[in-house]
Amino acid sequence: MNKLSLHFHGLPFSLTLQHMASPIPPFLFSLFIFMHLGFSVQGITRHYPFNVQLHNVTRLCKTKTILTVNGKFPGAPVVAREGDRVVINVTNHVSNNVSFHWHGIRQLLSGWADGPAYVTQCPIQTGQSYAYNFSITGQRGTLWWHAHISWLRATLHGPLIILPFKNTSYPFPKPHKEVPIIFGEWFNADTEAVISQALKTGGGPNVSDAYTINGLPGPLYNCSANETFKLRVRPGKTYLLRMINAALNDELFFKISNHTFTVVEADAVYVKPFETDIIVIAPGQTTNVLLKTKTNPSATTFYMAASPYFTGQGTFDNTTVAGILQYKLPHKTSSTTPLKIQPLPPFNATSVVANFSSKFRSLASPANVPQTVDKKFLFTVGLGSNPCPKNKTCQGPNGSMFAASMNNVSFTNPTTVALLQTYFSGRNNGVYTTDFPASPLVPFNYTGMPPNNTRVSNGTKTVVLPFNTTVEVVLQDTSILGAESHPLHLHGYNFYVVGQGFGNFDPRKDPAKFNLVDPVERNTIGVPSGGWAAIRFRADNPGVWFMHCHFEVHLSWGLKMAWIVLDGELPGQKLPPPPADLPTC
Ligand code: C2O
Repeated sequence: MNKLSLHFHGLPFSLTLQHMASPIPPFLFSLFIFMHLGFSVQGITRHYPFNVQLHNVTRLCKTKTILTVNGKFPGAPVVAREGDRVVINVTNHVSNNVSFHWHGIRQLLSGWADGPAYVTQCPIQTGQSYAYNFSITGQRGTLWWHAHISWLRATLHGPLIILPFKNTSYPFPKPHKEVPIIFGEWFNADTEAVISQALKTGGGPNVSDAYTINGLPGPLYNCSANETFKLRVRPGKTYLLRMINAALNDELFFKISNHTFTVVEADAVYVKPFETDIIVIAPGQTTNVLLKTKTNPSATTFYMAASPYFTGQGTFDNTTVAGILQYKLPHKTSSTTPLKIQPLPPFNATSVVANFSSKFRSLASPANVPQTVDKKFLFTVGLGSNPCPKNKTCQGPNGSMFAASMNNVSFTNPTTVALLQTYFSGRNNGVYTTDFPASPLVPFNYTGMPPNNTRVSNGTKTVVLPFNTTVEVVLQDTSILGAESHPLHLHGYNFYVVGQGFGNFDPRKDPAKFNLVDPVERNTIGVPSGGWAAIRFRADNPGVWFMHCHFEVHLSWGLKMAWIVLDGELPGQKLPPPPADLPTC
């Protein structure tokens, strides 16, 4: 046994080394100290095999063949620690092309592992493999993984849980247990048929048949009483619920009857804790909450339930998923039948949503929000139309085809190459242009009476940002074909939500009200229905980064764009070349 003491970065350390040969090479020694104290990026490497394969699942009395990862629905959690490297080797055993995204992972200098098909990679074809290889730096909390091509994420998704460094605790009391709660959307039909049909006819796609909690629809649906999620708890304990909205097209309200939550984290960033009896969660978002169970519950079971928030014009799945919170009690108390489901807000309860989202603040004060910005953008987000092709009839608005756009540009994905490959090669033969408008080319009253002309333009337009540019984007909803909340997601970055409001953003008055002290930091923000959200980020991660509405239908219709963030001058500011196994188209 060697007893050693030394000074390290001016701090005295003393530690005991067992079973270590001496002398210890100095570099190994400092590595050891780093790992021991846990403040290094030097974590371990965790390997996860992902086999994409078919699997039969029965829901709502119907058996259906779905795509799964390793035969599980929803998929199993990927668990890592802050500082770890994760290598996920995906092998495609199905006839569809696939690609996977690690939603919310910053992918610092590892943009080749980000996953959106035709943006950072060509999809993985049948029989092929690709190893997603990235390290997790400066993040801890709940994120998730999902397929990022067509609508395959309907069943190809699962939690991505990042634990804090060893010996680092949560900034809240240690929970008795941690439970992932994944909301999903179940379709009796094949979701690939649903979207391809809609894109052919130009009409809105069929809506889902059920919502699910951890894959289970629950007792309010036909023959689903046995398919009910049960959260078994002990009285007087604290549970950490890691909530993920993996639904394709719907924001959700969530409640547990007679219980309240403490929200502690959103999109893998700690927030100032706040109490609430309702959760609003948009597709792409994650929310960690503490659930403190009652010491003396009045019943052994309580309902939990989720239903949609929707303000658009089309049809939507207006059903409710329910699950059960079940107490393990030493002696049976009074009743065993669940109490009534506490009513959820009306489907169009925008005020509930606004009130909830206004409560989010970064735990860190001050937060690292850019105080000044180099480039300002105003992006409209909303629906629109494309004309019906000649000699066809279309089922979109006024016989046209539905489209969606940002700044009236409906984004077209490349089909034979990924944008990142094209950018990196330096040879752009018309794959993309760099003229995505910084603000609407034709300004109008965005949230007022919608214009008669709803036509969008189509293109693969990007914005190029020099390394380290500080960026502000005002995301402005439009009322074209219906004002609607849009969950906007940015790849490769977290952003700070410095302001939100209803109506049109006012560049003279609204910036004065921005929160530049402790705005919430997230990767997906619900742009208020008929309103706007202002976000800021520092473009310090070179690569091509997708930004899009996380409603799958809007993504299919073109509500997306890409940022190209250039390399910096210094060695650690350049995107490395692609891995050897990057799929080809
Ligand atoms: Cu969660 Cu571009 O996706």
